[in-house]
Formats: sequence, C-alpha cells, structure tokens
Amino acid sequence: MSALQPLRHGRIALRNRIAVAAMSRMQGGEDGAPSPDAAAYYARYAQGGAGLVLTEALFTDEAGARAYHRQPGLSRDEHVAPWRAVTQAVHGHGALVFAQLQHGGRLAEPGLNRLHLAASDGAAAGTTWQTGRPNAPARAATTAELDEIAEGFAQAARRACEAGFDGVELHGARGYLLDDFLSASTNRRQDDWGGDLARRLAFPLRVLRAVRAAVGSLPVGYNLSLYKMDDAAYQPPGGADEVAAIARALAGAGADVLHVTTRRLLRDEPWGEPLAATVRRAAPGVLLLGNGGLKSLADCDEALARTGCDAVSLARPFLANPDWLARCRQGEPLRAYAPGMEREPLLAPPA
Ligand SMILES: Cc1cc2nc3c(=O)[nH]c(=O)nc-3n(C[C@H](O)[C@H](O)[C@H](O)COP(=O)(O)O)c2cc1C
Repeated sequence: MSALQPLRHGRIALRNRIAVAAMSRMQGGEDGAPSPDAAAYYARYAQGGAGLVLTEALFTDEAGARAYHRQPGLSRDEHVAPWRAVTQAVHGHGALVFAQLQHGGRLAEPGLNRLHLAASDGAAAGTTWQTGRPNAPARAATTAELDEIAEGFAQAARRACEAGFDGVELHGARGYLLDDFLSASTNRRQDDWGGDLARRLAFPLRVLRAVRAAVGSLPVGYNLSLYKMDDAAYQPPGGADEVAAIARALAGAGADVLHVTTRRLLRDEPWGEPLAATVRRAAPGVLLLGNGGLKSLADCDEALARTGCDAVSLARPFLANPDWLARCRQGEPLRAYAPGMEREPLLAPPA
C-alpha cells in the first residue's frame, strides 16, 4: 500500500494517506483566538499536498483547560469565525482539517488557569514544555468539575462543526487530562472515575460520548499514546490486553479515528509498531492513523505495511518543511527539524 493512494472511510475522503500531526505553536491572542496568520499557516500544509491537517491542540474551557500561554482555543463562540477562515483556506487547497481538542490538566503552565485540575492530587514530574518551570501541584477534579469539563469539550466540538472542520480529534495522549485519567500511574482515585481499567476509562469515554452527541455524524478521532511528557517509559499494567481493551472501548463509544502516537512507529521497543498493530487488531473498523519518527515516503509506506494503519501522520518534518510531501515527491532537499523551530513566526519562509 502506497501512502500516496487515496483513502475513503465513511465521511472521510482523503487524497492521500499522509496527515500533518498536531503541533502547538503558541501564537494565539490573549482571548484565545488563533493568530491572524493561522489561515495562511495551515493552508501551506494543504498547498504542500498533505491529505489531512490536524490543528494544534485547542483548549476547551477557560476555567482550567489551557495548557500553554498564547494557546488558541475553541472556548467562545467568537472563536468560530477565525477558525472558519482556517478551514476555508485549507479546503481551498484540497485537504481536510480536524480540530484537536485538549484539556491541559496537570501539565498546564503554572498559574495559567483559575483551576489547576487533574485526576488525582499532586504535581507531574519535571518541568513544563513551554517555559521549563517545575510542574505545579494540581488538585483532583470533583465530579461537578468533571461535568463542566465534559461540557466544555462538547461545546468546543459544536463550535468546530460551526467553523467548518471536517472532524475533531480528542487529545487523549501524553499525560494531559484524558490520559491522566486513563493511566494507572497517575489516576489514584477511589471513586467512580478511578481504580480498575473500566473506571480509569470512564471519564475519557464520557467526554468522547459527549463530543459524539454534540457533533452528530461528524468524524471524531482520539489521539492516544503510552509515553507521557513526564513519563517516557509508562507501560499499562495490563500490557497488550489493556491496550486492546482501551481501543475496543474507544471504538465502541463512537471514535471513527484512532491516532496512535509513539516515539518511533517503526521500532518494536518499547511500544512503537506493536502498539499500532495491537490497536489495529482490536478495532478493525476504525480509521487508524500511526505516528512517530517517520522521515521519508518510504518510511510511510513501510509503516502502513507493517502496522496495518490506514494512514500516517508526521509532525516535525512538516514543521521544518510545510511542503514536505511536495519536496519528497520531487526529490528536493529537506530542511532538518531543530528544537525550538515551533517558536519561529508562523509564516517564516522555509529555508
Ligand atoms: C513543536 C511540537 C508541538 C506539538 N504539539 C502537539 C499538540 O499540540 N498536540 C499533540 O497531540 N501532539 C503534539 N506534538 C506531538 C506530535 O504531534 C507528534 O506526535 C510527535 O512530534 C511525533 O511525531 P514526529 O516524529 O513526526 O514529529 C507536538 C510536537 C512538536 C514537535
């Protein structure tokens, strides 16, 4: 299977199997609106040939969801119009675009939110991604606060529909709030939202169902990983059986797309290829996206063949080369990704 072949899955019709993975650029306004350059920025990925573009993570409510300073969101109805400009610009170049919805949870920048909430009391290990400050102690969300968080996701998803997105993706990976609930190492709750796997899954599934109900038949995706910003080596206590049960539950609750994000999709250890292949077997009916460490078109083809994924996503290669796919197809040189590139202006000319 070539990554250049078109893909049809339910309502999703892609011109090829290559997606731009979510990349936070921290260039929104103080009010959470995207940068005025966002439409031209996202359009560049579509113009360069990608089949699907995922937005950077967008916060879903203003009480506790923001992860980064200057993160854009979908928390207000006023955010719909600037995001509509983005979706129209991407559609103008033949790609689909999904909005990624995120609650930062305990990984939010210290002092950023009125409420610093997590599955359980305590601080994440290490320092924050944006400013490198020690992670701040968070408080376990109450059941009433969880209701509000789920409603925030649903309302943000409704706004994504109004803005013309082709789907939404829930950020359920890397230690942010949904993953915080799912992971045995961080969810130490003793109530209905913690304990065995069924209870650790309860809040992510609740959010997924609320979003599903808010968007009708619009495709809904779920981004999952084992590794976390503050724990690169996390292993689920139930191993592959647990991963399979999670994938079945997400598909059963209405996920159309599962996006498996790994550190190295084409490596076995600890969980690259086997993670995607396990999800594939457990949820044969979803559109499966694989991600992590792919660098060439040959890597993309190999990943499709070895994992059973339907499509792949790349982040850093696209950040360094918005026209990555066009350059690959024409055999043109590629700019190498360098840490910190995400802080360059959105429309910095590719070198
Ligand atoms: C600058 C930067 C920002 C990122 N922001 C997000 C994000 O907002 N949401 C998300 O799910 N993943 C985010 N990621 C992770 C990527 O989507 C991707 O999973 C990871 O970089 C591995 O893919 P790659 O090897 O193709 O870069 C980010 C990665 C980078 C490098």
